[in-house]
Amino acid sequence: MKLFIPGPTQVAPEILAEMSRPAIGHRTEECARLWKECRDGLRQLMATEGEILMITGPASAMMEAAIRNTVADRSLHLVCGAFSKRWFDIALSCGKDAVALELPLGQGFRGEEVREALQSGVDAGRPFEAVTLVHNETSTGVTSPLEEIGAVVAKFPNTLLLVDTVSSMAGMPVMVDAWGVDVCLFGIQKAMALPAGLAIASVSTAALERAETVPHRGWFLDFIKLRDRNRREQSPTTPSTAHLYALAAQLCRIFEEGLETRWERHAAMARQTREWAAGHGWTPFPEEGFLSDTVSCLARGEGPDFVPALDTLKEQGILVSNGYGELKGKTFRIGHMGEHTSADLDDLFERFDAALGAEVREA
Ligand SMILES: Cc1ncc(COP(=O)(O)O)c(C=O)c1O
Repeated sequence: MKLFIPGPTQVAPEILAEMSRPAIGHRTEECARLWKECRDGLRQLMATEGEILMITGPASAMMEAAIRNTVADRSLHLVCGAFSKRWFDIALSCGKDAVALELPLGQGFRGEEVREALQSGVDAGRPFEAVTLVHNETSTGVTSPLEEIGAVVAKFPNTLLLVDTVSSMAGMPVMVDAWGVDVCLFGIQKAMALPAGLAIASVSTAALERAETVPHRGWFLDFIKLRDRNRREQSPTTPSTAHLYALAAQLCRIFEEGLETRWERHAAMARQTREWAAGHGWTPFPEEGFLSDTVSCLARGEGPDFVPALDTLKEQGILVSNGYGELKGKTFRIGHMGEHTSADLDDLFERFDAALGAEVREA
């Protein structure tokens, strides 16, 4: 299968080879070296001096960890799609007094809206301890302006900024420290182009200090336990060393390409996708100014029905995603991230066009 879904994505053969190395003991010096290599590389990738935590598990586990460790009582959730809604649901299920600020699908958040919501908490005498933002809402292809929102949250010193960069990290700029992000989390199966299995987060000093004060953080997801084990270059539990080998190697490949070059490659693929779509009468689903560089969510608009073509492509071993949830049939999503190149997209669009043409001929 060739994956053009917005994650998981294609994995390079040399990375798959890294994953087949023999298992090593997780309390050995070799594993500690590998652990440190990954953490140092991740600091560089994320532009942070913060603590880097890694767990074997899905990104959703780190979403839950961020809530359990930084919120004793009350949190604000910026909701504009399925994954930002998931974070709100996680906070509710952890028993928090979670408040959602919800926008219609296709829209993203601006700093001013966030400022008003945080101020309303202060005015009510019940400030929010943390605010969650999904930088790149994979379900709608909406990217919210993280730097702008970070500058707003910084004006509320008791509110931590928790950000999901699951589908933006390594595909779009994310400057964790400069943009004031307290917890920045992601999985590795999107623009990082690794098989799913590790969840990663950078955690600021303020967030760690908060965690020290929050009761019932649980055991597996406890930031303090994870930080303390990091001091010995270890994890409290047995990590997937196959993923650590793959991550260390992939970070080297990413730095060889160069972060800026990598971001520009993603931005160029997004432009290429929109141009091709426009030729069919399909339009970007997100509002202007919020378009993602890693996933294009395209609305049917005046264009032909794309669903039969998605099925034809699937029969040929090529996966492109239908719309998410209620957007199924109304939008479709092309993931152009990780290992993809402009030439891969040329090939995809040629096959897509052929699949569409076959339907027209059959009709
Ligand atoms: C933005 C975003 N957040 C969170 C997740 C959940 O990731 P996982 O399935 O690794 O828990 C996804 C998965 O697609 C996502 O796109």
